[in-house]
Amino acid sequence: MINVAIDGPAGAGKSTIAKRAAKDMGYIYVDTGAMFRAMALYMLRLKADLDDSRDIASKADGADIDIVYEDGVQCVMLNGENVNGLIRTEEVSDAASRVAVVKEVRQKMLMLQRNIAKNHDVIMDGRDIGSAVLPDANLKIYLTASVEVRAERRYKENIEKGMESDPEAIKADIRERDERDMTRSEAPLTRVPDAVLIDSSDMTIDEVVKRIEELIGEIG
Ligand code: DC
Repeated sequence: MINVAIDGPAGAGKSTIAKRAAKDMGYIYVDTGAMFRAMALYMLRLKADLDDSRDIASKADGADIDIVYEDGVQCVMLNGENVNGLIRTEEVSDAASRVAVVKEVRQKMLMLQRNIAKNHDVIMDGRDIGSAVLPDANLKIYLTASVEVRAERRYKENIEKGMESDPEAIKADIRERDERDMTRSEAPLTRVPDAVLIDSSDMTIDEVVKRIEELIGEIG
C-alpha cells in the first residue's frame, strides 16, 4: 500500500490539496481532522467539560467514529449518523483542538487511522500523521503557510459561504490553535526530519498539487 502523510497547521490548505491529489492518483483521501471534529461534536452534545481531560477520556468510549466513502466522498459517521454537515463551525474547530490533547482520544483515532492505511493507498492529512500514525509512510509532507496568508484564506472562504467574519478574530483563533496543537504533550504538530517542507504562502493550489504529485511519482 502507498501511504502519503501530509501534516501542517490549520488553514495551510491540506485538505483541499490532499483531496485533489488523492483523486488524481486514485488513492483514498483521509481527513483525520474530521474525526477529531466528530469527537468534539459528541463532547459538545454531552456538554462535557472541554478543559477537563478526565471528563473527556471517560466519555470518549461512547463515541463510535468511523469513516465511510459514498461516491468517493468521505463521510464521517458518529454513532451511525453522518455528521459531515455539522463539524465545520468555529465552535467545533475550537472544541476539536481541545479534545485532541487527550491521550485516550488520540489512541482511539490512531488505531482507526492505521487500519484504514493498512488496507488502502491513502493520502492522510492531519497533525501527527508522519510523526505518530504512519511513521513508515512512503512520503511525508509538511505543508505550511504564514499565519497572515492562512487567516486571509479562511476569511475569503467565510465570505464566500456568506458567513460574517472578522479578520483579526480569525488570526487570533489560528494562532491559538497553532499554539495548542504544537505544544500539547500527546503527539504535537511537528515537522519530522524526513518530511518534505512545502510553504504554500506564495503558491497556488495547482502548484502545490503538482509538486506533491511529482513527489509521489518519485516514490520508489
Ligand atoms: O485539520 P482540522 O482543522 O480539521 O483539525 C481539527 C483539530 O483536530 C485540530 O485543531 C487539531 C486536531 N487534529 C489533531 O490533533 N490531529 C490530527 N491528526 C488531525 C487533527
